[in-house]
Amino acid sequence: MDVEALIAEGVARIESAPDTAALEQARVSLLGRKAPLVLALRDVGSLPAEERGPQGKRLNEARGRLESALEQRTATLAGAELDEQLRRARVDVTLPGTPFPRGHRHLLEQTRRDIVDVFLGLGYGVAEGPEIETVYHNFDALNHLPTHPSRAETDTFYTADDLVLRTHTSPMQVRVMEGQQPPVYVVVPGRTFRRDTWDPTHGAVFTQIEGLAVDRGLTLAHLKGTLLAFARAIFGPEREVRLRPHFFPFTEPSIEADVSCFACARDGSPCRVCHGEGWIEMLGAGMVDPNVFGFVGYDAEEFTGFAFGMGVERIAMLKHAVPDLRLFWDNDLRFLEQFG
Ligand code: PHE
Repeated sequence: MDVEALIAEGVARIESAPDTAALEQARVSLLGRKAPLVLALRDVGSLPAEERGPQGKRLNEARGRLESALEQRTATLAGAELDEQLRRARVDVTLPGTPFPRGHRHLLEQTRRDIVDVFLGLGYGVAEGPEIETVYHNFDALNHLPTHPSRAETDTFYTADDLVLRTHTSPMQVRVMEGQQPPVYVVVPGRTFRRDTWDPTHGAVFTQIEGLAVDRGLTLAHLKGTLLAFARAIFGPEREVRLRPHFFPFTEPSIEADVSCFACARDGSPCRVCHGEGWIEMLGAGMVDPNVFGFVGYDAEEFTGFAFGMGVERIAMLKHAVPDLRLFWDNDLRFLEQFG
């Protein structure tokens, strides 16, 4: 056996192994159980005594050379393969992430919930009623004269002679009182309908929240205190409330409530929210007209009450400086996404 040639060829093969699999093949054929060198080493014992020493030494040396070449190549290849693995597994942290869009409530729904929450906190309950309402509940029992202009087909959607798409949530005042005796403390969120042409501040469909309180001894002062608590919860703790005389058929006296402007110094300088007025119209309200108590069988001598009704679109527009209520219904995500 030409040991020098075996070493030279073996080392060359080891050093040129391109990867760990090829290197393992080289190891098996050079140093495995059936490798010529290993077989020769096993046979050393059967050589004549004087040849055993020198032959054993040469063969062991050869094995040592091959083993150290293997060890070196193993280390080199492992390092290179690890480098390659790391190169391929590298994450480019500068790439944009995978978007994971998260939905949120529509601004109108969020505002509706915020308002209702204020009244839940004041001890009110919540009721909901039909969007198709009887003329009786929408108008008659709310003390509208037969000639009242809002009954006209030019103002109100009729689905039958005696049925309308409710023009306000106030008919639920009547339905709630028909169903229970005082005390009553209830708010009624819901969708309402009027034959209005869509413009920045009017819609044929909009959202109201009605409030009704009936008890012994309720006065206009209780109404004002309630509206003040509401205004401060929604528009900020510094707000004030102002009542102005108004008219609704079903309240007497009737008022409109303004909230002090939250967007300016209220010194008369130009303001996009209050136009320098210092006050912003917030809602309509009043003391429940005794005639309405008559329709539901409440004793107007024993009980008094107040009611209020607000437009959710209007509150949301004021609070978030939304310039056009049609934006609430357009479903343009560029608008809606601003209110997550
Ligand atoms: N229903 C009235 C409207 O739609 C608002 C209102 C509610 C006024 C309750 C007084 C009391 O304009």
